[in-house]
Amino acid sequence: MNDIKKYLSGSNNKIIILDEVDSTNNYAKELGQKGEPEGTVIIADSQTKGKGRLGRSFYSPKGTSIYMSIILRPDTDIEKSSLITSCTAVAAARAVDKICRTDTKIKWVNDLYLNGKKFCGILTESVINSSGKLDFAVVGIGLNVRSVKNIFSSELLETATSIEDETGIKYSLEKISAQIINELNILLPEFDKADFIEEYRRRMCMIGWNVEILKSGIKRTAKAIGISDEAGLIVEYSDGSRDIVTSGEARILKNK
Ligand code: BTN
Repeated sequence: MNDIKKYLSGSNNKIIILDEVDSTNNYAKELGQKGEPEGTVIIADSQTKGKGRLGRSFYSPKGTSIYMSIILRPDTDIEKSSLITSCTAVAAARAVDKICRTDTKIKWVNDLYLNGKKFCGILTESVINSSGKLDFAVVGIGLNVRSVKNIFSSELLETATSIEDETGIKYSLEKISAQIINELNILLPEFDKADFIEEYRRRMCMIGWNVEILKSGIKRTAKAIGISDEAGLIVEYSDGSRDIVTSGEARILKNK
C-alpha cells in the first residue's frame, strides 16, 4: 500500500497504513476524538473485527480487499449526514469503473454490485457532540479487489464477489484506493448539495423490482419505484400507498 501516494492527484490527505487493525473505522474514530483533521485516511491490509451495517461483522482477510476509512468534518446538519454514504458509493463506483472499465451498480443504500453480486460495502459512523451537533464522521469502505473464491465461505459467495472474480483481471489495490480518494476529494466537499444524486439514481439496480424492506425488525414487501432527492428509497405497497425508506435494508426479491 506504500505506493498509493504515487496515484493521488494532488491531494494532501494524510494516509496512515496499517498491517492489521480491529477496524479502520474504530481507529479513525479514536483519532477523530483526538482532533485529527478532515481528510485523514486509514488503510489496513486486514481487520480482525471489521464492522458492517446493522451491527453485522465484515469479514476482512489479508490480500484480497481494500479496508479504508476517512475522517470528515462537514459543516452540515445531522439530517444531511446520511448523504455522505450515498455520495461515497458514487465516488467508489466512479473510481472502480475508471480503472477497471466495469459498469458498477449501486444497491440501496450503499452496496456496490457487479453482475448482480456485492463487491463493496460502506459504513458511515457519525459522532455527535454534547450539543447534539455532528462533531465528525467516519466513512469506511470495504472493497473486494482480488479473487475471494477460495477464501470466502460458500454461503458468503452466494451474494459476494470481487473485481477479479468478475473481470478475470488482477487490479492494483493501491491504484483503486488512490482513485477512490481522488473521487471523494471531488465529490465530498459539496455532498450536502446532493449534485451526485442523478448518478446515484442512474446506477441504482433495484428500481422496478419487488423488494423486502427490513426496518426495526419488521419485514414488508413492496415495489422499489425511485430514489428521493435525499437518497431515500421510494417504495409502493400492494395497497397503492407509498413510503420513502431512509434506514434499514432492502433485499431484492427475484420477481418484478
Ligand atoms: C456493509 O456492507 O455492511 C458495510 C461494510 C463496511 C466495511 C468497511 S471495511 C473498512 C471499514 N472498517 C470497518 O470496520 N468497516 C468498514
